[in-house]
Amino acid sequence: MSASQEMPYFINPSKNLGVDEKKAAYEMAVMAIDANLDSESHMILKMSTINCILKTYLPYYYWVGFYLVHEGKLIVGPYQGTLGCLHIDFSKGVCGKAAREEKTQLVADVHALAQGTAHIACDPNSQSEIVVPVFDNDKKLIAVFDVDSSLKNSFDEIDQQFLEAILERHFTKRPLEN
Ligand code: SME
Repeated sequence: MSASQEMPYFINPSKNLGVDEKKAAYEMAVMAIDANLDSESHMILKMSTINCILKTYLPYYYWVGFYLVHEGKLIVGPYQGTLGCLHIDFSKGVCGKAAREEKTQLVADVHALAQGTAHIACDPNSQSEIVVPVFDNDKKLIAVFDVDSSLKNSFDEIDQQFLEAILERHFTKRPLEN
């Protein structure tokens, strides 16, 4: 299901950040995430809070959310943004590739990928993205974390470093409840 090109009233177009602004925004977000989650263990509570705080601090986060590993596929979990695709096969999309390879994927221009196979367009406004695998305490893949921007070239190694560290700290280094 694809949304129309028009953005709903509660979503703004993305604004890219320079290197220093981006690092400063992530540093603020990390402090807020750690302050809110340090004594928490529930998976959904953590996912919802991470989405909300990152989307608040990073102005190029058009769509942000988790796809959960469920019965050998990915199903949409907590997210903020326009309507996400509900199911994604491991064989499809950037999310599927991140899940298959268990490696972070950075895509500068999603429209350069084959549509329907290498990229799944849940919302035609998405232009670039990062997808980071999420592991539990036993190093088992439990989800992928997907961020889309409505601009090209929004994500780089700075996003990758901060996001991998946030997800490791809150999902891999701690026991989790469902
Ligand atoms: N970008 C994903 C699909 C999920 S939506 O962007 C919310 C992909 O191609 O894997």
